[in-house]
This record gives sequence, structure tokens and C-alpha cells, in this order.
Amino acid sequence: MAFERKHILGLEELNAEEITLVLDTAESMREVSDRDVKKVPALRGVTVCNLFFEPSTRTRSSFEIAEKRLSADVLNFTTIHSSVVKGETLLDTARNLEAMGASMIVIRHPMSGAPWLLAKELNSSIINAGDGWHEHPSQGLLDLFTIRRLKGRIEGLKVAIVGDILHSRVARSDIWGFTKLGAEVRVVGPPTLIPKYIEHINAKAYYNLEDAIDGADVVIMLRIQKERQDSEFFPSLREYSRFYGLTREKLRGAAKDVTVMHPGPINRGVELSSDIADGAEAVILEQVSNGIAVRMAMFYLVASARRTS
Ligand code: CP
Repeated sequence: MAFERKHILGLEELNAEEITLVLDTAESMREVSDRDVKKVPALRGVTVCNLFFEPSTRTRSSFEIAEKRLSADVLNFTTIHSSVVKGETLLDTARNLEAMGASMIVIRHPMSGAPWLLAKELNSSIINAGDGWHEHPSQGLLDLFTIRRLKGRIEGLKVAIVGDILHSRVARSDIWGFTKLGAEVRVVGPPTLIPKYIEHINAKAYYNLEDAIDGADVVIMLRIQKERQDSEFFPSLREYSRFYGLTREKLRGAAKDVTVMHPGPINRGVELSSDIADGAEAVILEQVSNGIAVRMAMFYLVASARRTS
């Protein structure tokens, strides 16, 4: 099948075939990353702007490496060194970058929906690198890619997502991605951090960690997003950690070959203990490595769709 989307905004709007095509394309891109000369000309002559209005270590660096491996011209934009601090709007900022020749814009923004606004108003292709509490599609895709490589399938797997579901764009993209490819998704955390609509998007809510990870093939741990919380959702981090922090003992009920994931950044000792974070079940750094191939695939497919539209 051909990928016909000019933008990648969220996994909610991609169907299973489109998601699978991204994962299959990422396999070819991984092969490029294994070569001595890690470069192909797919984006030669294309200017890509990384427009980040929030901090990022993994996503921003990974997108930049992916762009360079595809031979794009790369423009990095950080709010603090821009005219946003003088009051320029998101739309005016993006229009100016487009006027300078950017035809693909990767955006991370604290407001849910910001990438959709740019996609509506600009001619450039927009790739969502995380919008508010809403979606983080490249993280969802790299999580799927990592698990498909490890387990050979997604369909039929039991996936538990643990922690601050309410504020997590990673949780939402993972729920869409894993359920569309046929996994059973469970979410678990304090009732205050599990949104009421979660069962309407095909995830089952749990409030007890051991129940949620019973028989799980994959456990995805999330960070408590203090920066997005305007009130207290649980009495203390210590109490949170006691009930929802992952330890070796709590992991005993999971499948024998369970895989533990985390999108990063990790709060060691809060959502998971160091022996789990650095243990044999964890694939946290593999997720990071795979992110480059997945983002290369996203650019490659969007660029192909632009050429044929
Ligand atoms: N996983 C993730 O989005 O990490 P960063 O915030 O460092 O990009």
C-alpha cells in the first residue's frame, strides 16, 4: 500500500495498515543505521525545522539524527533564543520558518492540538513530536517497533501501561497503536490519574499494579508529570512509589519473558527501581536507538506522499 498522508499528527488517525507500513519501513531504515556510512539521499534538498517549545533530550536529538541520515538541511528552533520571547505567536513563527524554505516541521508544544493548527494553516508537512497531554506518535511507533522486533508480533500481547495516564501523551499514542495492532491494553494508576474515558478507547482500567501486570508480556512505566499537574493527585511521591513503583517482586506475576519499557526521562526510585531500569527485562535504551529508524521511516513516507500528492 502507498502512504498518502502529508502529516503525521497522531496514532488515533492512522489505521493498522498505515502503522504497519511505518514499522516495515523502519526495518529498512535500521539497516541504513547499521552501515559504516549512515546516510541516504531521501531528503536531499529538503529543509526540516525542529520547532520545540518544551524541553527534550531523546525526541529532539533522535529527529535531528534521522533528518541528517536522510540528508535533509536541518534548522533547530528553541523558544528561548527566538522572537517567541518577544510575543510572536506560534503561527507567525511557523509561517516565517516556512517562508525561509522549511517544508517539513517537527513540533513539540505544551498545548494539545498545536500540530493540527499548523497542519491546517501551512503548506509544510507537520510531524507531531508531542502535544500537551494528547499524543506522541513517534514514541508510540518506536514502542511498537521495539516490541514487534523482540516478540515477533503485537497481536494477542498483554500490555500494561502504568502511572500518570491522565497527563501522558505517550500513554494515549501507545493505547491507539497497541490496540489497533491487536494487543490487549491495561492501564493502571491511582484513580485520580486514570481518565474516565479510558475504557471508550479500548483500554481496561486497573487500580492495583499486581492485578494489571498479572501475565503481562509488556509493562510500560510512565513518569509522574509534575510539570503538567496543577493540584495534588496523590498524597506523596513516597506513597505513589509504594503502590505503583515497579520492583522485582511486583514483576513476578508478569509473563516469564516480560519486557519493561519507559519512554524516559526516568525517575529512578519513583516509578521503577534501578535494578529493573538496568535489568535484563528493560529495553529502555533499545527504544531510544530504534527511535532513529522509526523517525527516518516517518520522514521517508511523508516525503513520498508529498511528491505524489
Ligand atoms: N520520550 C521523550 O519524549 O523524551 P524527551 O522528552 O527527552 O524527548
